[in-house]
Amino acid sequence: MAEFLLTDANVAHHVLPKIAAWQSIPTLVLDPGESLKSAETLFQVWNWLSTLNASKTDTLLALGGGTVLDLAGFAGATYKRGIQLHYFPTTLLAMVDAAHGGKTAINLEAGKNLAGLILQPAPPVTYERTWLSTLPERELRSGWVELFKHGLIKEFGLALWMEPCSFRELPPQDLLERGIAIKSAVVAQDPQDKAIRQILNFGHSMGHAVEAASHPTDYPLLHGEAIALGMVAEAYLSHHFHRLSEPSMSFVVRKILMEFPDLQPDFDFFQLLPYLLQDKKNPAEGLKMSLLRALGEADWGVPITLEQAEASWKFVRTLWNR
Ligand SMILES: NC(=O)c1ccc[n+]([C@@H]2O[C@H](COP(=O)([O-])OP(=O)(O)OC[C@H]3O[C@@H](n4cnc5c(N)ncnc54)[C@H](O)[C@@H]3O)[C@@H](O)[C@H]2O)c1
Repeated sequence: MAEFLLTDANVAHHVLPKIAAWQSIPTLVLDPGESLKSAETLFQVWNWLSTLNASKTDTLLALGGGTVLDLAGFAGATYKRGIQLHYFPTTLLAMVDAAHGGKTAINLEAGKNLAGLILQPAPPVTYERTWLSTLPERELRSGWVELFKHGLIKEFGLALWMEPCSFRELPPQDLLERGIAIKSAVVAQDPQDKAIRQILNFGHSMGHAVEAASHPTDYPLLHGEAIALGMVAEAYLSHHFHRLSEPSMSFVVRKILMEFPDLQPDFDFFQLLPYLLQDKKNPAEGLKMSLLRALGEADWGVPITLEQAEASWKFVRTLWNR
């Protein structure tokens, strides 16, 4: 059974040379970045696999961040109706989040992750914390956001543990493992994302809209940066329109502001609106969000009006003096 390796140019430069056994595996190296999650690149991967006569029993190894894994998962699951997959996440975000749970996707013009599927079982995951040593600081900080979120929705002790940590440093191994365990446990309860798994979307309804709106600008936000802003907006909503106490909202806001003082949330709410409204998780009648009930506890499907969402975005912009 043959193996094929999908990665991007940065990872091929920084991480691949550390894995001696892989130097002779057929490898497709893609241009890095969110743009690799496209229909064009998906076709490129399918054609590459078929040119190499990859068969259903062969394995596609995905070495990279969430973009490479999302694309590889979709390409591998659909090529010949599914070949074997193995994920090797190299960013913090991918290690604690994207590699687990089987979600795959590419982006369409209308927005992020609009075409994809959920793999069951999810592909196996192998990682080395030391691979993170070459990750740019901005990417590292972005990955911490999902780790922090895992604590906020499920285990306040984990979020407390992170409070004194700097998001610019590598997380300790045990913290990393705890965050991964939380994600895996939530996914195991609801692999198809019909119910409790949606609590993982805390910060993502607003965050995905912010991320998409930022992409055509001169200051495109990283996924985790957009989710950081989304978490502040949704902490506001959790307090004002759900059950989160004011001190608990402040805990979230304080930590995000401390780690991300440099973000520039310069968009008006109307720029976010098209993305908020076409979020596939929202039924036609209005917005539904995953919000915090308390620190370490979250609910999903909480109805939120557009006026409330707009107020939360004003709150974010005021905090960052925009
Ligand atoms: N499937 C899921 O459940 C899920 C969950 C969360 C996010 N995502 C997706 O993940 C994507 C974001 O992932 P990401 O933040 O990992 O971004 P990414 O894959 O773009 O990686 C970030 C950057 O770091 C570089 N890089 C990766 N590893 C490196 C290393 N060890 N050393 C040096 N450079 C390295 C990459 O080349 C890239 O430039 C988004 O598309 C998001 O939608 C998916």
